[in-house]
Amino acid sequence: MALVSPDSVLVSPSLPSCWPRFSQPLKLGVLASGRGTNLEAIAASIQRQELHATIQVVIYNNPGAGVVDRARGLGLPSVLLNHRHYPSREALDLDIIQTLATYQANWVIMAGWMRCVTQVLIEAFPRQVLNIHPSLLPSFPGTHAVDQALAAGVKLSGCTVHHVEIQVDRGPIIIQAGVPVYPQDSVAALQARIQAQEYRIYPAAIALAALDRANLVDGKTGKRP
Ligand code: GRF
Repeated sequence: MALVSPDSVLVSPSLPSCWPRFSQPLKLGVLASGRGTNLEAIAASIQRQELHATIQVVIYNNPGAGVVDRARGLGLPSVLLNHRHYPSREALDLDIIQTLATYQANWVIMAGWMRCVTQVLIEAFPRQVLNIHPSLLPSFPGTHAVDQALAAGVKLSGCTVHHVEIQVDRGPIIIQAGVPVYPQDSVAALQARIQAQEYRIYPAAIALAALDRANLVDGKTGKRP
């Protein structure tokens, strides 16, 4: 099974041809603030037996966020950690770490998590905190990436999955996918085109990040390559 189909504009340094199998399924904790369509896409990839992983828990920070219903529909536990109730970002991150530990998740998958994270979370999961952003980083970091890309008149936009570092929307890039920007595009139209690519690259990026982290065990022999 191909990791990604060949019809997208996909930029990644070294894509393996097949989805990797790991000694154990990756244990994901998904952090989301909004609709949760990326959560659904990751779950669908797991369901198709592509991404070798389980979603252990969904953490959300906005009561009533759409992601809650999606998690319920997928049969996934969800935990509300409302950032408004914490004295600091570090305090919230400590609770995130505790919740991930409770649900035995060790990959932190930020899927529309609209909070800045701190060194506390990043250091707890070295190179295992990932984020998706709706632009070709380093262009247009921040919360209005799609609007800014349109306003700038770029002809190519896209999305990026990257390792999370302390600066917002920075960190080593794992995969990018590009999409065309058309003159008549609205923000909604461009966003939808970008999101279609997000759903494809996020599962692949998680697999690649895990491959990079080495503990890969050959699916056929059970031995390390
Ligand atoms: C995505 O476009 C992602 O790039 C950005 O937030 C959005 C989340 O969408 N960081 P959803 O909640 O997964 O539908």
